[in-house]
Amino acid sequence: MKILIIGNGYIGTKCAKAWPDAVVSDKIINSVEEAIAVLEEHQPDAVLNAAGIVGKPNVDWCETHQLETIKGNTILPIIIAEACQKKGIYLLHIGSGCIFYGASPDPKGWKEDDFANPGVVYTKAKYAGDLALMTLPNVGIARIRMPMDSIPFGGNIIDKLAKYPKIIDVENSLTVISDMVQVFRQLLEKKAPGIFHVANPGSIKHKEIIALYEELVDPSHKNEWITEDDLVSEGLVAKKRSSNILQSNNLVKIGINMRPAQEALRATMEEYAKLKKEGVNLDADGSARADSCSC
Ligand SMILES: NC(=O)c1ccc[n+]([C@@H]2O[C@H](COP(=O)([O-])OP(=O)(O)OC[C@H]3O[C@@H](n4cnc5c(N)ncnc54)[C@H](OP(=O)(O)O)[C@@H]3O)[C@@H](O)[C@H]2O)c1
Repeated sequence: MKILIIGNGYIGTKCAKAWPDAVVSDKIINSVEEAIAVLEEHQPDAVLNAAGIVGKPNVDWCETHQLETIKGNTILPIIIAEACQKKGIYLLHIGSGCIFYGASPDPKGWKEDDFANPGVVYTKAKYAGDLALMTLPNVGIARIRMPMDSIPFGGNIIDKLAKYPKIIDVENSLTVISDMVQVFRQLLEKKAPGIFHVANPGSIKHKEIIALYEELVDPSHKNEWITEDDLVSEGLVAKKRSSNILQSNNLVKIGINMRPAQEALRATMEEYAKLKKEGVNLDADGSARADSCSC
């Protein structure tokens, strides 16, 4: 199967490294005609849309760049979807679990077809893209949540939490990137339609991430714990961040199982500790171009 990855940012590059047989397009797409030209150039069997606007240095940027955010996260996915529909090609679009804020109606977590309650420009634009694409055949939406990498770099959620002097203790779903790339690949191979929550089952508290960091990486690490309200009132972020737990029922229905979040966290932190000791850092070779989820 020939896979085309559109977008060579952080997530697109991770997928490209894991799938040496895939091709990546870094062409900026502004119209259906441009998207069709990219499809005709590469002749893929399936497309992963890893292009989008996440805000630099973080998602707060989107609050004052609304149109760029809407173009990248609502209009661009529709453009790419239209091109794929016209060419009869399966599309897997990367969505975000950040569209859900707080406690879910079902105590087990937010389900794939629950109506979301996005609170900021980035998450509203992402959800608008989902609402449009979920009506189309031959399209999958893979929502990821708090991607965690075993490779140290400034934007990794592990590095970010470890360097913050003040941290909120919230509970979240987690997507370990090494698992995510395998799930994306299976979804592309199966040309699976519908919405998928690509998150390791279970949830993780920030306190558990830090405890494991102190156990395996740096026993001298110190931080202060603050509330979610303090985060905004102390001016540490412009808008409240999303915390949520996702249920992944649709993946299981098609025979895709991810390892539990607790197991994935420990394995990732062990690998992270090893790489950090070896001095590996994605920032050094310029591979790290984005922040892990800060919405
Ligand atoms: N990183 C996370 O924590 C996270 C969490 C949940 C969901 N996601 C989703 O995952 C996707 C990829 O995010 P990422 O973290 O990999 O972000 P990223 O590193 O910023 O990569 C996004 C890529 O899309 C490209 N792009 C933007 N507009 C484009 C256009 N019109 N045509 C073609 N390419 C375009 C960007 O190019 P330029 O660099 O030239 O702008 C960049 O290379 C996004 O949809 C994001 O919402 C990410």
